[in-house]
Amino acid sequence: MLTSLAICMLLNVCVGWGTNEDLIISILGRRNASQRKLIRQCYAETYGEDLLKALDKELSNDFERVVLLLALDPPERDAYLANEATKKWTASNRILVEIACTRSPKDMILAREAYHARFKKSLEEDVAYHTKGDFRKLLVPLVSSYRYSGDDVNLHLAKSEAKILREKITAKEYSCDDIIRILTTRSRAQINATLNQYKNEFGNDVNKDLKEDPKDEFLTLLRAAVKCLVYPEKYFEKVLRLAINKLGTDEGALTRVVATRAEVDMQTIKEIYEKRNSVPLDKAICKDTHGDYEKMLLTLIGHVEE
Ligand SMILES: *[C@@H]1O[C@H](CO)[C@@H](O)[C@H](O)[C@H]1NC(C)=O
Ligand SMILES: *[C@@H]1O[C@H](CO)[C@@H](O)[C@H](O)[C@H]1NC(C)=O
Repeated sequence: MLTSLAICMLLNVCVGWGTNEDLIISILGRRNASQRKLIRQCYAETYGEDLLKALDKELSNDFERVVLLLALDPPERDAYLANEATKKWTASNRILVEIACTRSPKDMILAREAYHARFKKSLEEDVAYHTKGDFRKLLVPLVSSYRYSGDDVNLHLAKSEAKILREKITAKEYSCDDIIRILTTRSRAQINATLNQYKNEFGNDVNKDLKEDPKDEFLTLLRAAVKCLVYPEKYFEKVLRLAINKLGTDEGALTRVVATRAEVDMQTIKEIYEKRNSVPLDKAICKDTHGDYEKMLLTLIGHVEE
């Protein structure tokens, strides 16, 4: 079992520093990739086991999980999180959509390569195997997609596809080929243009019209896909809000979002969070967490000690 003490000893053994959790926090929290790689190599040499394997065990605390997630390269981390999500898949699990729709198309390719290397199979085959029906119909192309990532937009196409979306949504054909094709293959910029057209033409945000039955898990997943593609920071703000407001705090979600977004869009997420909740994210995290875990999260979100 990996403990935070073990990581300290590990660092001691490997680099001969006088270490403690504060050092781990300052190293991993300040995101030095070469140091993270070192920790990973040391871990493998000392324990004869890869960090990814260690993550699979029952970890005794949240600090360990955040440390292990951070020590992974982003593509490996995504592969690991996606694999975990397929194994624990339920209709309410949004992690696959989150990964497929918030990572850049390039990063998604890297994550899929990391998945091959680590698990000796493809992400899409695992997603297909663990899901069924409409969920499989949506998720397999979503995780397999290599979208165009430029800004160029075809407005004529946006108009015609907004109309298609409207027709299918009005007919409640939510899992029809067209909706799935548009959401799983068009570029972010093109989808954004289509959704802007949709709103101009028909008056509502598409996600409002996809709320017809708030309890329908497939619709919830479609809305998450739309949000992750077009407003990822708003999506992450909401995941954090629900994680923190939940009775007992959802540390899994909190750890995942902080570990995966720290270097990406955390500053924007923090701004949105404060606006929406009238409390800064660091204050909210302080209230709900403690000890080394708290310190690590605060370091990662760029909280500066006063
Ligand atoms: C990252 O770690 C390397 C290796 O120890 C070190 O030489 C370098 O100064 C560190 N970089 C930063 C930005 O701290
Ligand atoms: C979506 O379109 C709006 C309006 O044109 C624009 O302000 C926004 O930056 C676009 N967002 C993305 C993610 O392309």
